[in-house]
Amino acid sequence: MNKKMVSLLTVSAMAISMMPLSVFAEEDLITVGYAQVGAESDWRTANTESFKSTFTEENGYKLIFDDAQQKQENQIKAIRSFIQQEVDYIVVAPVVETGWETVLQEAADAGIPVILSDRMMDLADDSLYTCWVGGNFTLEGETCGDWLAKYLEDNGRGEEEINIVTIQGTIGASAQIGRTEGFGNKLAEHENWKMLDMQSGEFTQAKGQEVMESFLKSYDDIDVVICENDNEAFGAIDAIKAAGKTCGPDGDIIVVSFDAVKAAFDSMIAGDLNATFECNPLHGPRVAEIIQKLEAGEEVEKIQYVDEAFFDTTMDLEAIQAERAY
Ligand code: AHR
Repeated sequence: MNKKMVSLLTVSAMAISMMPLSVFAEEDLITVGYAQVGAESDWRTANTESFKSTFTEENGYKLIFDDAQQKQENQIKAIRSFIQQEVDYIVVAPVVETGWETVLQEAADAGIPVILSDRMMDLADDSLYTCWVGGNFTLEGETCGDWLAKYLEDNGRGEEEINIVTIQGTIGASAQIGRTEGFGNKLAEHENWKMLDMQSGEFTQAKGQEVMESFLKSYDDIDVVICENDNEAFGAIDAIKAAGKTCGPDGDIIVVSFDAVKAAFDSMIAGDLNATFECNPLHGPRVAEIIQKLEAGEEVEKIQYVDEAFFDTTMDLEAIQAERAY
């Protein structure tokens, strides 16, 4: 064997040994198309990773992943392309709740089951999707309101006039609708709480910062900012500091948010963020379990809520953070 052949064989052997060993033949793989919202937040990154690490060839799947860049028209295009490719299942995390009937009817006509994950769709005919799995956004908003009431009470501010602003998520997304509604339910119980303003930060850090900058210019007496996700809070905190104000448990402005990603723990440990209300992004294994049940001809529950907690600066945050997967 000449030198060239030996090195070619060595390279090939190395490449083969580095290839993941799949016990599934190509034709036995279950093909799943995932129409993802985008990459707007740490939460979304964790959610994407959960799907990519679950729906692998070693686990018996072929994943076709599409990032819609927060645009519904891109998600609709992705779903149509999944139908054309004759996938076995379509999974959608819908960017907004409305406007899905036509494309879901096309999936139904093609006989492809649609599983909703994370956010919901508002459909006249619920038979257009098989099931949904995600967080209870309204409950998250209510938990946030209850936490704020107790926090103010514990700090001797229960009767004080409290001025609140909200940086909302993407308008029309379940996470925005539910959190706004849930906190609103608690707001209605407190006559001394005043909602000064609500504007969308589109679930991003950059927009969260921009919206907070404009709130700080318009109102000089903000006591609380509700951020409908952690990344908006990171932007809001930057804006508060840039305006010469302070935030967190020892600051001028109370900052709360949703998701409970790792960076939110860093922010609480740094004394900037007061509390975060969990929204669990690890839906990959949950969707895989649903698909396995469907493959086995079993019934699945139509609506599947995930349990969620909250975290604030009174807790042992370092210890909790070390145990968390995202
Ligand atoms: O739908 C879940 C929400 O979407 C998360 O709270 C947010 O971070 C993401 O963009």
